[in-house]
Amino acid sequence: MSIAKILDIHFPIIMAPMFLVSNGAMMKEAVQNGIAGCFPSLNFRGKGELERILDSLNEFKKDGRSGTYGVNLIAQKTNPLFEKHLEICVEKKVPFYITSLGNPKKVIEKGRDYGAKVFCDVTNMVHAEKVAGLGCDAFIAVIKGAGGHAGQKTADEFLTELKKEFPKIPVIVAGGVANGDQAKNMLDLGAAGVSVGTRFIASKEATVSLEYKEAIVRSKKRDIVSTTRISGTPCNVINTPYAQKIGLEQSPLEKYFSNHPWTKKYFKMLIQMKGMKKFKQGLRPATYKTLWCAGETVEHIQSIKTCREIIEDLSGKL
Ligand SMILES: Cc1cc2nc3c(=O)[nH]c(=O)nc-3n(C[C@H](O)[C@H](O)[C@H](O)COP(=O)(O)O)c2cc1C
Repeated sequence: MSIAKILDIHFPIIMAPMFLVSNGAMMKEAVQNGIAGCFPSLNFRGKGELERILDSLNEFKKDGRSGTYGVNLIAQKTNPLFEKHLEICVEKKVPFYITSLGNPKKVIEKGRDYGAKVFCDVTNMVHAEKVAGLGCDAFIAVIKGAGGHAGQKTADEFLTELKKEFPKIPVIVAGGVANGDQAKNMLDLGAAGVSVGTRFIASKEATVSLEYKEAIVRSKKRDIVSTTRISGTPCNVINTPYAQKIGLEQSPLEKYFSNHPWTKKYFKMLIQMKGMKKFKQGLRPATYKTLWCAGETVEHIQSIKTCREIIEDLSGKL
């Protein structure tokens, strides 16, 4: 079933959650223009910030807009705000969730109580099996080359596998889409929707530095590299001199601490906190420490546009 139907919106398109990039203005553009905007709760970490953005979006959505919004929760033990953010989201009746990493059980249970939909990020069949067993409403199949924490499989491979194993669960493809032809192609392959991140970084409404946006426009597929140095999990970034300097792989000692049962949780927390700092640096004017997260769709992004124009491009062929 199309996610347009599941979420009662015009187009089966999600403006993907992006750490430090997604903001309120972008969400409102999504809601206004018939798609589903989703933002990571961690972008609103300050006291009262999450409550305020949710109130504002609920108010905005009231006026019969054709899109909707959702919240991305990192359901991992290393996220100390998970429980608190889930509680706030449930209280404010967030329309849908995207969960990444960890165990989404609580999100599915508490969301279902008031009719919210819960879509779960998956990069492999093991995690897919787990979230299917918990009752997710759809998979977000994160494919190879997607911005951020990417998968290992192509859209075609992953869609075929998931649909064969779980014929009743809709599959949304994350990655590989920056224009209308690509969106249509994914739906023709059998996707229930697409989740688009990188294309929206080069939008007028994104509040990242102009250099980051220009790097998205300038970069080619060959400029995207995968590094485990940021969060311990492979993450796609633009191959800036700093990305080259920090290297693409964890050292043997880092790998040891990341995997040892006694140190795993705290070491991952430390790595993730350091990684967050590195990304924050990348939002300011470029320095020698610039690290920019992006997917291979940079190849197809030629200019900075408004979110509305981007949504028109993406939905134009559907
Ligand atoms: C800058 C950036 C930050 C991201 N942050 C998150 C995040 O906080 N949570 C999450 O689930 N996915 C995150 N992602 C992944 C996206 O939600 C989505 O899966 C991906 O952007 C789709 O691929 P594309 O960028 O090639 O369109 C991020 C992606 C980018 C580019």
